[in-house]
Amino acid sequence: MTDDRSPGAEGARFGGECPAGFFARRSFLQTTVAAGLAGAASVSLLDGATAHGATVHGAAASHVAPGAEKTVERAKPIPFHGEHQAGIATPPQRDATFVSFDVTASDRKALTDLFRTLTTRARFLTQGGTPPKTPPDSPPSDTGILGPEVVPDDLTITVALGASFFDDRFGLAARKPVQLVTMTPFAHDDLDPALSQGDLLVQVCATNRDTTVYALLDLLAHTSGAMKPRWRIDGTRNPPRPVGVPRDWFGFKDGISNPDVTNVAQMNQEVWAQPRTDEPAWAVGGTYQVLRIVHFRVEKWQQVPVAEQERIFGRRKVSGAPLYAQDPNASDLLDPIYTNDPQGLITPLDSHVRLANPQTPQTAATSAILRRSYDYDRSPDVRGGLDLGHAFCCFQRELNTYITMQTRLEGEALVPYISPRGGGYFFAVPGVRDEQDYYARELLA
Ligand code: HEM
Repeated sequence: MTDDRSPGAEGARFGGECPAGFFARRSFLQTTVAAGLAGAASVSLLDGATAHGATVHGAAASHVAPGAEKTVERAKPIPFHGEHQAGIATPPQRDATFVSFDVTASDRKALTDLFRTLTTRARFLTQGGTPPKTPPDSPPSDTGILGPEVVPDDLTITVALGASFFDDRFGLAARKPVQLVTMTPFAHDDLDPALSQGDLLVQVCATNRDTTVYALLDLLAHTSGAMKPRWRIDGTRNPPRPVGVPRDWFGFKDGISNPDVTNVAQMNQEVWAQPRTDEPAWAVGGTYQVLRIVHFRVEKWQQVPVAEQERIFGRRKVSGAPLYAQDPNASDLLDPIYTNDPQGLITPLDSHVRLANPQTPQTAATSAILRRSYDYDRSPDVRGGLDLGHAFCCFQRELNTYITMQTRLEGEALVPYISPRGGGYFFAVPGVRDEQDYYARELLA
């Protein structure tokens, strides 16, 4: 077990929330983004968005401010090339946007061009550099949101494919990851088709909001005609209050029990698709990604006494420690233990943690996922109410692990306080190996 105290979250100052989901509610599918007119695109797509303007850990500037005595060192970019994509085992950055796309490329060649373009842009954006200069009488080559130089800002761009990507359009049906299916509703789900499914999911994470928006606008400007946004959810990670992993909108520390992302054997066992399995060879090094947009009934939750809230989650609210810990300062790193509590007198059998991971031999194979969720705020909703929730995001080597776990959670005590509204199942493709490689090359070759 490990916690995911990320360098991006520790000590970082939270800078406010973007009106999440405005893409989903706007008719921007009709927006035409002329090639090379990234600036024009930003006007129509950014309407309503605000930058956080928060301070950054290890400032990512590379130039000297007037009067400054020392050059501020540029933050090291998160490597783009590798066996696995960044943005999965990467400690969660503070800001994220998840955008689901319908692919509109006309044929396999256009599809391959799309993936090459996505790769080229992601490589540049995540590593940083100077956008190309254009003549004064031509449109600028970028939006200018990040100033004269694109700084890495811990940006990661992670690309994943939905089951519909493998329909008969591109002749790829035989190469679909074996467990990839279209998400169907669980009991208590209230899925909105306008917030669900998609051919391709792009997850963009960075320390600051302006970097996330800049990257998204850049990707849109360079790929118009080949993919169209279908829905979007934005989220942030709250700062530690006062220490440890962030609290979610229910006030609980969320993200404590997770695989140790530095443990290669554990990650191979629980997260990364492996060779010599049923998965197609191209998929090795990738992973199944689940995104669920889960509305929280915060006002109703607010009426529940804390002791009852703790029984619903199966952990202490203030400390995050397991329920057997009486000391208010107990560590959240203590492992929950149920062997001396078969009847659930301490940790109820229908509590969230106990159903997610019952710690029984029968459930051992379906109890480990890598959670990497963000909190969203889309308030007010259409009825003028609060819409706070979770962009629940997790990665696992087998999609069936998630489906089995979520099925167990159909009976959890948390059910009256949450309402899953959308999302989908995807397969995050393996990493881009080097300058010659591109996203999903072995799939498309
Ligand atoms: C969307 C609403 C959810 C909320 C508010 C929530 C919150 C929490 C909290 C507070 C914990 C305890 C602290 C921790 O270990 O992180 C926890 C643990 C956990 N949650 Fe969730 N969660 C949600 C959804 C889900 C879903 C959809 C799944 C998977 C299907 C899931 C899987 C887990 C797992 C595996 C653990 C760790 C269990 C353990 O090993 O002790 N959660 N969650």
